[in-house]
Formats: sequence, structure tokens, C-alpha cells
Amino acid sequence: MSRYAETYEAWKNDPEGFWADAAQEIDWAQPWDRVLETDGGGANWFSGALCNTCYNCLDRHVENGRGDQAALIYDSPITGKQKTFTYAELLDKVACFAGVLQANGVGVGDRVILYMPMVPQAAVAMLACARLGAVHSVVFGGFAANELATRIDDAKPKLIVTASCGIEPGRVIAYKPLLDGAIELASHKPETCIILQREQEPAELTPGRDLDWKHEMEKAAASSNKPACVDVAATDPLYVLYTSGTTGQPKGVVRDNGGHMVALKWSMKNIYGMDPGDVWWAASDVGWVVGHSYIVYGPLLHGCTTILFEGKPVGTPDAGTFWRVISEHKVRAFFTAPTAFRAIKKEDPKASLIANYDLSGFETLFLAGERADPDTIQWAEKALKVPVIDHWWQTETGWSIAANPVGLGALPVKHGSPTVAMPGYDVQVVDEAAKPVATGETGAIVVKLPLPPGCLPTLWENEEGFRASYLEDYPGFYKTADAGFMDEDGYLYIMSRTDDIINVAGHRLSTGGMEEVLAGHPDVAECAVMGIADKLKGQVPVGLLVLNAGVDRSDGDIAREAVHLVRDKIGPVAAFKTALIVQRLPKTRSGKILRGTMRKIADGEAWKMPATIDDPAILDEITGVLVDAGLVSGK
Ligand code: COA
Ligand code: AMP
Repeated sequence: MSRYAETYEAWKNDPEGFWADAAQEIDWAQPWDRVLETDGGGANWFSGALCNTCYNCLDRHVENGRGDQAALIYDSPITGKQKTFTYAELLDKVACFAGVLQANGVGVGDRVILYMPMVPQAAVAMLACARLGAVHSVVFGGFAANELATRIDDAKPKLIVTASCGIEPGRVIAYKPLLDGAIELASHKPETCIILQREQEPAELTPGRDLDWKHEMEKAAASSNKPACVDVAATDPLYVLYTSGTTGQPKGVVRDNGGHMVALKWSMKNIYGMDPGDVWWAASDVGWVVGHSYIVYGPLLHGCTTILFEGKPVGTPDAGTFWRVISEHKVRAFFTAPTAFRAIKKEDPKASLIANYDLSGFETLFLAGERADPDTIQWAEKALKVPVIDHWWQTETGWSIAANPVGLGALPVKHGSPTVAMPGYDVQVVDEAAKPVATGETGAIVVKLPLPPGCLPTLWENEEGFRASYLEDYPGFYKTADAGFMDEDGYLYIMSRTDDIINVAGHRLSTGGMEEVLAGHPDVAECAVMGIADKLKGQVPVGLLVLNAGVDRSDGDIAREAVHLVRDKIGPVAAFKTALIVQRLPKTRSGKILRGTMRKIADGEAWKMPATIDDPAILDEITGVLVDAGLVSGK
């Protein structure tokens, strides 16, 4: 029997008591005055309390006898390297790097941007910031200089930590030109950059600005400059993580220290069913929220061994890599995005490579980051013979809004549903007037305020933007910007976004942001980007471009430049490979581009001619272009 219903009820009856109990799992330097403080906007959890996230992730485990246990296993099939750090070793490295940061003037509240590949030093730098009360902001390595510059200007970091390169299958990506380009573009200039030299492509350091990671670490170790944890307020920011909004300007999601620790610790046991000492693996990237919550903070807060994997589900070296890592490191539960399983299924449809590995210790597969399609879930269930658990959350929440809580006793799985609302979340499906819709009917998914611990209290230096983005449309509720329905058992089904965000291989991207870039092409008069269904990545962006009158260059050249421009300005992660030249874009009489209708045509879904369309003939023209491009069947 699952204890879910009684646990959810216990939270509903006494939300503050519920989280105060959960908070007993954390070591506080000073207890809170109030569990919850809110003025109807963002919630402040555990105000008055003092704490340190790094202390709870590392020091306390070492003090309690976990020093010799593996804390982090770096497994990098892309470089052929592996290295295990015990809790004591990781603490030493983190304290040392905190010394380096401190020696370079970083203190409480200062921002530090981390632009790092999947190497252990990325986690070390995050925890070192936490140790000092500095605020890290990790930028995913697949973003281009321009995106890094936007984040530099918003976060205004004192210092940037980066590596000389990242490694993708078949190519080494030099980070230094991207870093230099970003600093050149940004108005804010960080004082110092610390660069981790990697043997695949060392960088030439800029005198007076750049420092060498290894050299600085040796200096800190020699002078025993290893600062202790600095107590910060529970409500102080631990990090800012930028995520795509509806424009090219990303949103700086703020995460606090206290509530975040309480929520993640609770989730490790109750949602993921993990115990301290277990080996846990989240195959994501530290540049995404999954990496923050479940590569670094969650598993370490819980005393687990976490795996930091630098590789891909396929091609490093084959579609058996995941099974190799699970068996070699005795992983008990594993978390990844459905797209990774679709990639494996494509390479090894019969999952024949599994037979090469002993997966007897493997218990549960968790999927999130995009809709888990029933086909993929069924394939994984059959191949792995373990429960496959879909769960739904966002950068903003930091942990599951809906899940199947394995630690409380799993509920029956319904394919296509991430199961039920977690304690802390009163999830409702509503219409445009914020009125609940009937069971089974699709609507906007909202969460009654206040949001639970762990969720964003605000956007970085942008309280107004926070309220406008999340709170204003449905007064008293948080807008998830996801749409879907709830069935008669309270199971949620998350079907689509209500804004212009698309989900490409589990990565959240703004079509509005891509449109802003395309509009910058000198020959483009107007454009629209839509996310169309893709068998591997879930969705991929397609751009439709209307050219300026009189442009006499070839369509092919302009399309190629457009693709290049998005890669150059946003980054390869946008996976923008298709730009199509069209004569006109379909619009409503008030001038709104009918992106939704075009997407339905491209996806072969049923669609109705919008009553407000200005000129219905344009949809035929667009269909013709999509057919010619092979995106829609001509039948
Ligand atoms: N640095 C630089 N470039 C990067 C990068 C990084 N950290 N991560 C990805 N890229 C590049 C890729 O090399 C690729 O470039 P290309 O256009 O030259 O081929 C492009 O960005 C798109 O990357 P990706 O979406 O990862 O596609 P892919 O075709 O390389 O791989 C999958 C497809 C399914 C294997 C891959 O998307 C994957 O492993 N997904 C797992 C999803 C995941 O971890 N999501 C995180 C949220 S849980
Ligand atoms: P991100 O903030 O990058 O984690 O992306 C969050 C968005 O991804 C959500 O708002 C959803 O649109 C989508 N998403 C995440 N997990 C799921 C899931 N399990 N099912 C459906 N959509 C999901």
C-alpha cells in the first residue's frame, strides 16, 4: 500500500507543520523564526534561519563518518577517464576552491558564472560558491557567446569559472573564444576568469584577467587556505539559473538555500526511494536544473554517491553505455530524459546490448524533462524490467510538481501520466477565467499559492517580471505555462505548453528568442518559428522566413545563413536546422501570426480554419512549402 494519500493529506492539513518536520533532516546553524512568510507573491521559507548548503552536502557527512564513502564518480566515456572522489576528498577540493574564490574577492552574495563541461570541477565550483555564500549561475556549454553575454549582463558576476574546452562526439569545442566573445559583447566585465585547462585543447590565458585552475588550487592547498562554511540566511540565494522565457531575454530563476535543501532531501527519500549510501545517477548536464537538483545537491544532501557522466546515450561508444555505467557503479536508480531512451531505441531496437551487463542491482528508471510518450515508456519497461516512472517539474520549481512517489510506495503507473501532485502542490486545471475545468477536460495547469519550499521565490533582480510571468494571469495561483488534464484518480497528463516554449531533446527553448535572432538577418522582413514533432528529439524548431521586397539572392543561401545565425547567436543546442522561405505568413485580422495552426498542419494533426484568419489561401501556400521540404506528406 502506498502512503501517498495520507502523506498528501498530512501536508494539506498542516502545510507549515509538514515542512517543519521535513526540515529536521537538515542541519541548521540557527533555527527559523517562521516556517513561511509570504505576501501573496513568492514564498520565503524558514526565515530567520541560518544554514549552509555546502555544509549539509559535504562537511556533515564527513563529520558523521561518511568521509570514506564515494561522493562523486566522474565517468567520462568521451575522454576514456574515470575518477572517484570520497566525501572527504570532495570536501577538500571544494574547500580549496572556496579558498581560490575567496582570494579573488568572492564573498557572500557575489555572483560567479560557471560555464563548464561535465567535469567534476563543475560540481566543485558550485559547492565552493555555496560554501562562501556566493551565488553561482551555471551556463550550459551548448549556448553560444551571445547567450553567455546576456547572462553576464543580468547576473553581473565578479568572476567566471570555465574550462578550456568541451567535448562533443567527433569535435572539441574551444570555450575560450566563446568566453572572450561573450565578455566583449557584455557591458558588465568580470574582474577574473579561472580556466580549467583540459589536455584536449588547452587555452591561451589572457594576462591580467585569466588564472589557471590547477595553479590556483595548488597555491590554495600550499597555504592551507580552505575557508569554513559561511552561514547564510535560509532565504539567501544559492544560485540563479537562467531558463528560456517567451523572449530572447532568459529568466533568472532564483533558488534559496533553506527551502531548497528541505525539498530536495525530502524528494530523495520519498520520491526517488533512495537511502544514504546508495548510488544514484542523473544523466543530465549541470547546465540544466536536473543537473543542479539531482547530479549535485539532492544526492549529496542525502549522503548518496552521485555519478557525473560526460557522454551521450549513444555513440560514446555505443547504445550500451547507460547499461555499462549502471552495472559498473551499481546504480540503484537512474534519471534521464525520454529522448535519451528514444536515441537508444533507434540504435538498438531490441535492447540486445543489455544482455552484456549485470543490472541486478538496478531498481527504478525515472524520466522527466519532456513528455514521456507511452511507446518509449513501454519499450524501457520491457527492456529493463524495472518500473519506469515519469515525473513532471520545471526549472522554476526545482523538484517534482507531480510524480509517482516510489519511497512512499509506488502508485499504479498509467502510461502518459507523470502521476499525481506531490505534497506542497495544490495542482488545478483551469480555464482562461481561472475556473476549474471538468475532470478529463484540457486546460491551463496552475498551482495554488504559496509554492512549496525549493520553488523560485522571485526572478533575479526582477520581482516585477516574476509577478508578470507567473502570478498575474491566474490570481492566487502560479502559472506553470503547461496545459493538460487530470483524470478521475487525480492523475495529471501534461500535454503541451501554453506559451512559445518548445522542448527539443529535453531542452527548453524559446521560439520567440529564435525569431528575434532571425529578424536580425538583413534580408528577413518577417518570420515565425514553430516546434514541430520529431521522433527523436520530441520537437525541433522550423523557421519560416518572409524576405524583404527586392531581395534577389538565392533562397538556399539565405536559409543557410539563417541556420548559421541561430547556431552562432543561441548555440548548437537550439538544433535549428530548417529555415524555409515563404511568400507570406498566415495571420489573424488583428495581425497575430497563426503559429499554432501551422504547427498542427506540420504535425499532421486535425486543425480548423481559424474564424479570424485574414486570408485562408496563405495556409495552402504554407502547406505547399512544408510538403516541398518533406516535412508534411503531400497526400
Ligand atoms: N556543448 C556544446 N555543444 C553541445 C553541448 C554542449 N554541452 N550539448 C549539445 N551540444 C550540441 C551537439 O553537439 C549538437 O550539435 P550538432 O548540431 O553539431 O550535432 C547540438 O548541440 C544538439 O545537441 P543535442 O540536442 O544533444 O542533440 P544530439 O543530436 O547531439 O544528441 C541525444 C541527441 C538524444 C543523444 C541528446 O539530445 C541527449 O543525450 N539527450 C538527453 C537529454 C538530456 O540530457 N536532457 C537534459 C534535461 S533532463
Ligand atoms: P525545464 O524548465 O527546462 O525543466 O522544462 C520544463 C518544461 O518541460 C515543463 O514546463 C514541461 O513543459 C516540460 N516537462 C518536463 N517534464 C515533463 C513531463 N514529465 N511530462 C511532460 N512535460 C514535461
